[in-house]
Amino acid sequence: MEENKEQTYAMPRIGEKAPEFKAVTTQGDINFPSDYKGNWVILFSHPADFTPVCTSEFMTFAHMEKRFNEANTKLVGLSVDGIYSHIAWLRTIKEKIEYKGMKNIEVKFPLIEDITMEVAKKYGMMMPGESNTKAVRAVFIIDPNGIIRTIIYYPLSLGRNFEELYRAVIALQTADAFQIATPADWQPGDDVIISPAGSCGVAQERMDSKELDCKDWFFCTKKLDKEKVLNTILKKK
Ligand code: BEZ
Repeated sequence: MEENKEQTYAMPRIGEKAPEFKAVTTQGDINFPSDYKGNWVILFSHPADFTPVCTSEFMTFAHMEKRFNEANTKLVGLSVDGIYSHIAWLRTIKEKIEYKGMKNIEVKFPLIEDITMEVAKKYGMMMPGESNTKAVRAVFIIDPNGIIRTIIYYPLSLGRNFEELYRAVIALQTADAFQIATPADWQPGDDVIISPAGSCGVAQERMDSKELDCKDWFFCTKKLDKEKVLNTILKKK
């Protein structure tokens, strides 16, 4: 009987170390995540080169790259295509494609070639219910210590909202810097949430506090200046 040698991987999870890999990219070879130590990283997959939704996504992400870099965040893309296809596609985007006022867009962040699907499988980017040959639109936000902090998946037909990915990066960094949580639809300048009280005494202190706005003992918010958030997180170059 023939042995099935295909390696299977557990899906990576939030709070775990990002799986390691070496890869060839459009910007040279990388060792992931060690090459990115000290930076936040968005590792994202797309189904295929020379496809329209992916092209709109790459143009949008490349257009926003400076903003992500100012938030100490690097972008790394991946698809199950080869390096020559990647190069040809990125050249076409720069030379020929105009979309929503964006043109001459140069994708400067690395795009991983993954014909063997090794990385895509390690990161649970292949979803056979969607496709056996194309990665879905997966997003992994990884912190400067190489820990996965957010995972988001979209199907093939649905282009991502890159402002939401930017908001997620800023919110994660704000939560770390100020030891708070961020409520629904939070944007810098909005009130933030402090962790729920762990004792009856703290619950009462929270309710009596003049600095907090408590809807009830378990749901207290406080002000956090937009300037304070942005000055802490963004480094202008
Ligand atoms: C696209 O990026 O346009 C696309 C890729 C795979 C399936 C459907 C759309």
